[in-house]
Amino acid sequence: MARSRCNGKVLCLFLLPCVMVSHLVIYIMVSIFVAVSYSPPPPPQLPLHFVATGASGNSGAQASHPVRPFWNLRLEDGALWNRLQHISDREHNPILRSNVTRPKILGTRHPQEKMVVCGQDEMWASQLHDFNTLPAQMKEFVLSMHCRYYPILLNQPNLCAGDGTETETPFLLMAIKSQVGNFENRQAIRETWGRSGWIQGDDGGRFWFVRTVFLLARQDTETGPHPDLSALLDLESRTHEDILQWDFKDSFFNLTLKDILFWDWVSKHCPHIHYIFKGDDDVFVRTRALLDYLNQHEATVQKTDRNKTKDLDDFVVGDVIANAWPNRQPGTKYYIPDSFYKGTYPAYAGGGGVVYTGSLAMRLKEVSQRVSLFPIDDVYLGMCLHRLGVSPSHHSGFLTFDLPEDLREKPCAYHNVLLVHKRSPKEMLTLWKELQVPPQEC
Ligand SMILES: *[C@@H]1O[C@H](CO)[C@@H](O)[C@H](O)[C@H]1NC(C)=O
Ligand SMILES: *[C@@H]1O[C@H](CO)[C@@H](O)[C@H](O)[C@H]1NC(C)=O
Ligand SMILES: *[C@@H]1O[C@H](CO)[C@@H](O)[C@H](O)[C@H]1NC(C)=O
Repeated sequence: MARSRCNGKVLCLFLLPCVMVSHLVIYIMVSIFVAVSYSPPPPPQLPLHFVATGASGNSGAQASHPVRPFWNLRLEDGALWNRLQHISDREHNPILRSNVTRPKILGTRHPQEKMVVCGQDEMWASQLHDFNTLPAQMKEFVLSMHCRYYPILLNQPNLCAGDGTETETPFLLMAIKSQVGNFENRQAIRETWGRSGWIQGDDGGRFWFVRTVFLLARQDTETGPHPDLSALLDLESRTHEDILQWDFKDSFFNLTLKDILFWDWVSKHCPHIHYIFKGDDDVFVRTRALLDYLNQHEATVQKTDRNKTKDLDDFVVGDVIANAWPNRQPGTKYYIPDSFYKGTYPAYAGGGGVVYTGSLAMRLKEVSQRVSLFPIDDVYLGMCLHRLGVSPSHHSGFLTFDLPEDLREKPCAYHNVLLVHKRSPKEMLTLWKELQVPPQEC
């Protein structure tokens, strides 16, 4: 009896802890094994017709995953954009700022210096081990990405001035990215959805003051084999007084510059604007429906207590694409090499068109000075918003990928549409005419 009690004690004192510890060891070993054999899931497969900017669609090319745990990542091995951004973040960190020695990679000049002579520079190209194998547009981008100030060639300083009264400050400014040669697109927009003036909402209520402006860069004999259209452009600019043009080459990877320079322009010449629509010259916008929608937003702002107003001012709406991966397929328009950018894109409003408040444009202007240039303009806007802590809202009325084919001809199908991509100048005129008739039964 005594012996068995003793055995029971031995069991309690030694055996039980041993059993428990061995269970723990087995548990730890199993979890380590699971962690080691885990491979990250592939990014979600997108439907075939969905060709998001930056998303690689159904192609096999995907962003790389970090090979080492994140705490072990060495910055020197990182992609160029990520490194530049990291340095810029350190420079602007209020705690670290005072004693930062300027890293060699940035060179001796300050990228934000307004007087920088903006030529091409090998400074950052030398940081890219595969620079020589990159596509031409990527090379050109890297050679000039330190530069973001270009002089304005055609300006409209009075575009937003009106007669100086409160009522004449435009409610909506439509900023359309266009190219010198797209005269027909611009004229179709002026005659249809981009008409400047007092526009009534679809609900038949108030009239709103709307202005349209076109954002251009240079496309002439100096920037490539382009016909000389400067005389025509001058005439157009004098006739309509709605062209802004800056002195840089108008290329796909330079589109981000248009956003930055436009934000700068707005802060100087249109600081009281309520809303900004930024879009391309091949979309169709139901401007009156958009005005109603913005009016509702405005009403919400006024209803909510003043303390929350700031949040409602941080308003961006469009066709939001979340968790997109950089396109890793060389030879495609949106190709971003692994050596330039690592990671996923922040949520961004996809191409075609996006609406935000004027006050947000001011904040974007400020924050963009701390975000390294990125070649895809929509993604760059997403990066800036991310830094401001603002998430873009999705609206199903922004049809970046068009209506189903069988619905395109039916005016009723446009009932809930705010924006549709893409429409030729002719299609804009036809659609505009069709949509003038109020929808009967939809
Ligand atoms: C910055 O460095 C100087 C000398 O290099 C030192 O005297 C000073 O205390 C430092 N400042 C901060 C905020 O660390
Ligand atoms: C952008 O414009 C600048 C100035 O014209 C030019 O040097 C650069 O090559 C352009 N970048 C791209 C990617 O076309
Ligand atoms: C705004 O917030 C302050 C304190 O946070 C509060 O005293 C004030 O009543 C609030 N104003 C409104 C209109 O809710």
